[in-house]
Amino acid sequence: MSKLLVTGGAGFIGSNFVRYWSEEHPADEIVNLDALTYAGNVHNLDGITEGENYHFIHGSILDQKLVHRVLDNIDIVVHFAAESHVDRSILGPEAFVETNVKGTFVLLEALRQAQSKSEIHFHHISTDEVFGSLPLDSTAKFTEATPYQPNSPYSASKAGSDHLVRAYHETYKIPITITNCSNNFGPYQHPEKFISRMITNLIDGDNVKMYGDGLYVRDWLYVRDHCRAIEAVLQSGKVGETYLVGGMTDDVNNLEVAKMLLRYLDLGEEKIQHVKDRAGHDRRYAVDWGKLQRDLGWEPEHTFAEWLEKTVDWYKTNEAWWRPLKEEAEKIYKKTGQ
Ligand code: NAD
Ligand code: DAU
Repeated sequence: MSKLLVTGGAGFIGSNFVRYWSEEHPADEIVNLDALTYAGNVHNLDGITEGENYHFIHGSILDQKLVHRVLDNIDIVVHFAAESHVDRSILGPEAFVETNVKGTFVLLEALRQAQSKSEIHFHHISTDEVFGSLPLDSTAKFTEATPYQPNSPYSASKAGSDHLVRAYHETYKIPITITNCSNNFGPYQHPEKFISRMITNLIDGDNVKMYGDGLYVRDWLYVRDHCRAIEAVLQSGKVGETYLVGGMTDDVNNLEVAKMLLRYLDLGEEKIQHVKDRAGHDRRYAVDWGKLQRDLGWEPEHTFAEWLEKTVDWYKTNEAWWRPLKEEAEKIYKKTGQ
């Protein structure tokens, strides 16, 4: 039986992970530390009840005293808490440096000081965006050996946090692992992100807002597969190592994703509205997850087409969940002209 501290467990992936872990490891205890920013939502955890095996703490990873306190008796930290949206990082980078770099630093420092008392495994959740952009006309993929070349304030702040985590392992022997994952989709994703925004726009009779020419490629992974990958690393990953996690979509671009959605919803392509492009927009991401497959036997189980449709159905039946978030998200896009 283990005791996990999950940071950012009220966000999209964190809440899916809490749900997954409680189902798969019911004897374990989870402490969820979340600041409930605009992206955190207690309703993401509806059905998970406060009790012996689950405790929610409303607080920030930037709060040193609190972080020291919550680490007491913890075996594993799974660190999701972050500012996660690239467009917001372009509008206001400071919060990204604060939360993603400084917040990770506060956690690592607390671990360094707790180290003499116990050995806590720190698992850092990161992104493929730290590697920058791949050319469209290539079949190249990111691997664990790809040099870092982040292009947005978001990815630069995540890169900074990855470097700190590695450095604390090398210097202070903190037992760490890192996963760098590609784009997730699925239930409880904030409607500011591409797939969830498209679905909710279309439900509302609005258009898909396509940045630039739409020929941008992401490597989509259903969120439960990401949770399974984290589980594999927590159970059998090698301390000090990084593992890349990705999907099986093989170079599907944003226009193609939009067309899949429109077909499923029986709508025409006139619903695709090209809008202003994102500044510094990364062209293509593609992840080689061979190491995770070879070393830990992980591979994605959820096919993109099928789980995209299931995700549409989820948003259709869970309007009460996303409706309160939608208005504020669209207000910001109105300002940026997107
Ligand atoms: P999210 O924005 O949905 O959730 C982030 C959560 O962190 C929220 O619950 C928020 O309240 C919390 N948080 C923010 N600042 C905090 C602080 N100071 N203290 C405590 N909690 C705080 O993000 P997400 O999409 O679920 O991403 C989770 C993690 O996974 C992030 O580290 C992100 O970089 C990484 N990641 C995301 C994706 C993706 O496709 N969404 C892919 C790869 C990696
Ligand atoms: O690659 C992993 C990353 O994926 C994570 O680290 C980030 O936290 C997560 O937000 C995501 O970043 P992206 O920038 O790739 O995701 P986003 O959903 O914002 O955009 C996906 C693509 O869709 C990108 O090419 C921009 C485009 N887009 C986005 C929105 C919101 C549009 O064309 N229209 C839109 O309305």
